[in-house]
Amino acid sequence: RKLMPALFMTYLQGLLPERFVIVGVARRDYDDATFRAMLSESIKTFSRLPAKEDAVAQFVEHVRYHRGDISTPEAYEELKARLEDTEVYPGNRLFYLSVIPSLFEPAVRMLKQTGLIAKPGGPHWTRVIIEKPFGKDLERARALNRALLCHLDESQIYRMDHYLGKETVQNILSFRFANAIFEPVFNRSYIDHIQITAAETVGMEMGRGGYYDEYGALRDMVTNHLLQLLCLVTMEAPGDLSAESIHNEKVKVLNATKLDIRKNISDAVCRGQYSEGMDSEGKRVKGYLEENRIDPESDTESFVALRLSINNWRWAGVPILLRTGKRMARKTTEIVVQFKVPPLQLFQQVECDDDVCDITRIKPNTLIFQIQPNEGILLRVGTKRPGMRFVVEDVKMDFSYSGTWNKSLPEAYERLLIDTLHGDATLFTRSDEVEAEWRVVQPILDHLDQLRPYVYPPGEWGIPEADWLFHGVEGEWRNK
Ligand code: BG6
Repeated sequence: RKLMPALFMTYLQGLLPERFVIVGVARRDYDDATFRAMLSESIKTFSRLPAKEDAVAQFVEHVRYHRGDISTPEAYEELKARLEDTEVYPGNRLFYLSVIPSLFEPAVRMLKQTGLIAKPGGPHWTRVIIEKPFGKDLERARALNRALLCHLDESQIYRMDHYLGKETVQNILSFRFANAIFEPVFNRSYIDHIQITAAETVGMEMGRGGYYDEYGALRDMVTNHLLQLLCLVTMEAPGDLSAESIHNEKVKVLNATKLDIRKNISDAVCRGQYSEGMDSEGKRVKGYLEENRIDPESDTESFVALRLSINNWRWAGVPILLRTGKRMARKTTEIVVQFKVPPLQLFQQVECDDDVCDITRIKPNTLIFQIQPNEGILLRVGTKRPGMRFVVEDVKMDFSYSGTWNKSLPEAYERLLIDTLHGDATLFTRSDEVEAEWRVVQPILDHLDQLRPYVYPPGEWGIPEADWLFHGVEGEWRNK
């Protein structure tokens, strides 16, 4: 659904090298023809732009199938024998480990032992892509890093977090550091709080239950995608745009990030599980515990919300709220930066409706990075409503990708695959960054017994208890 259509799109744009072969390795008894036919179908179904028959046919000519069980050394020996035919297979190699996490280390070890991994600095390069989850807790993330680094140089490992390949996510840095007007106010003096939401309407479709029940929302979304968004919106400006400078700044801000625990862990974290009910489209859906391949007694969360603080000069005292969940009201990923209200409430006034009167207060300015869908950036500002009185109303200034550039945005995988071919690790996660991410959430994993999940109905915004995280803050979740 993702990789082959992405490779096909890069092929169409002429971004792949002139000579390339894609070898699929798996246990099933396919041959090149069956594999190509299968891929052609999925490319036609899932490509972001219409895939013409002849272009797909040309592309799949580059695809081969190799049967082998990659948990056994023989698979690597046979693969090596095949790749030695340099007439067909170029010397630069990118291994994409689209495998269960327990195979990361054995696969890399056997690739190395078979001599399939070239030393860095030689005439040909070898790179390895692995996809999250990178470990299951801090300890196991460290162990995985150690194991991978026994066989590979850090410069050969590309840990993929597909959020970083999203156009709108990359734009956070450009927006912050290519414009002089926002950066001076991006700090504790002007910002009240920041909230990051990644809500999804899906549940455990497509056989995901087994994996998900073992990991849950915290490990599946927070320790990677959400913390990466947090880094981009709060990190200091790097000295240059090299991968190293950017990773250094991210690690610094992650190291300063802590759960905002006052007394108990539950002041800073809450977890939820969806119940059976109507989803956002009015369709009856199963509860989390009744889903396929989910332990009916499971206490894995399908929703999690947390409150963090960043203990540095820029952000001290600014609450950072994150939440993510499945089966929520709408698919949306957004970052909301809420500014403080002006120090003097000049425009405060009393508005009455019969005998019910309310003091209307100015709404704070809000800057919203809409990551998906309706990709764009929105700034809410107060302006005078036309008329005889001074009534200030909240209006929005917005930029949308679709209104500005009339073309479909590249899929995250397109960008990331091309970057790997070019050896650019900027949009990948470095080993110390992964460990810093786990360090932030480790106290939650240590106290799961105090964080039993609350139940929430599908089609809404998760558990109401997530509102408590706003204690002492002038604000609430933007969508609720
Ligand atoms: C994946 C998670 O990394 O990201 C999934 O494993 C989640 O559970 C997905 O659905 C969300 O990605 P996107 O790009 O649809 O926001």
